[in-house]
Amino acid sequence: MNQPLPSISSDAVLRVRSQSLRSKNLIPGVTDKVSLAIGEPDFDTPQVVIDAQIQAISSGYTHYSPQEGRSELVNAILQSAVGVAGKAFSSENILVTHGGSAGLTATILGLLNPGDVVLLEDPTYSLYLDAINLVGASVKRFSRDADGKLDFDMIDKDAKGAKLIVLCHPSNPTGAVISPTEWASFADIVKRNGLFILCDEAYEGLTYDNGFVSALDIAGLGDNLIVCRTFSKKYAMTGWRLGYLIGEPRLVASASTAHRTFNGAINSANQLAGATALLKAGEDAEKMRRVFQKRRDLMESCLRKIPTIQFRRPDGAFYFWLQYLSKLGTSLEVAAKAAEAGVMVRRGEEFGSSGKHALRLSYATDERSIEEGVARLGRVLS
Ligand SMILES: Cc1ncc(COP(=O)(O)O)c(C=O)c1O
Repeated sequence: MNQPLPSISSDAVLRVRSQSLRSKNLIPGVTDKVSLAIGEPDFDTPQVVIDAQIQAISSGYTHYSPQEGRSELVNAILQSAVGVAGKAFSSENILVTHGGSAGLTATILGLLNPGDVVLLEDPTYSLYLDAINLVGASVKRFSRDADGKLDFDMIDKDAKGAKLIVLCHPSNPTGAVISPTEWASFADIVKRNGLFILCDEAYEGLTYDNGFVSALDIAGLGDNLIVCRTFSKKYAMTGWRLGYLIGEPRLVASASTAHRTFNGAINSANQLAGATALLKAGEDAEKMRRVFQKRRDLMESCLRKIPTIQFRRPDGAFYFWLQYLSKLGTSLEVAAKAAEAGVMVRRGEEFGSSGKHALRLSYATDERSIEEGVARLGRVLS
């Protein structure tokens, strides 16, 4: 008699599936609508980067690269990064990754054990929770209040016994940027409680009002810090799957061991193109940033016409986070109503329970779509 097959999915996969907040897709079947749901730049990758990749392939860069990354890219990263609060970096501080997603997942898999506790903002990008669940670690969540303030006493209390704090800076989905004063409080908590800190800077370079202070610039974080960056957003390179980790060598080494188990060395020609992005596409990136800023201002002025919603002006990334009247229903229901009314948005619950009556709107789209999409949404929310 045949033995029954064991369960197909591992406990880790079942844990991720049952607790994941991520949307696989937007609302199925709705494709002919204005989309304010997009999480990627609508620009083409800068031509100088494309040319560098074609040139690399034509020149024979078609073989495996070193696991940690090609020296051309590692050196370009070292040239573009200032060093942890003035401390110089070397190649030991860097790991080239398969996009930001793999950098984040490798860091979490490399650092955490089952049962470890992670501090996570609510709302925040949903991938962190999936990776934490994959390990079998647990989360304590903290939120900003209605004025955007963080309760550092509470975070400090929760930090006792936690191993890692994950920050998204600038934030997907709120667009909030961590201020220098907040950085000082985080640095104090991290140091006193012996926490590791993973700062996701996927939207680095996409800030509009007050400039960008990287976690790498914060004195006192260096020994505990690992920063994840990606070429996806700043250089409009989402399809290239290129990112990097930068931080304390032992943290980078742990992430590297995890990363090499599920990713081989990264595409060689893409790495050369990435080096070109860092060294030569600064002006292209700045042009895109200025367009995003204009669109943010436009979306803000459109949203101000909807009296029933609350939001804070985002300083970074390309999203608005709206709270609407709870009587309208859950964010899944309201996102479905919005789709029926002809505009696609992301439901807030995807980013944490604080998003039960919230939506995420993206302005990574043209001005006409912003105006029309917000007008349609206004009719649903009013
Ligand atoms: C905050 C944040 N981190 C990381 C990523 C993943 O970036 P990548 O496309 O490089 O994997 C995203 C993508 O949406 C994101 O929003």
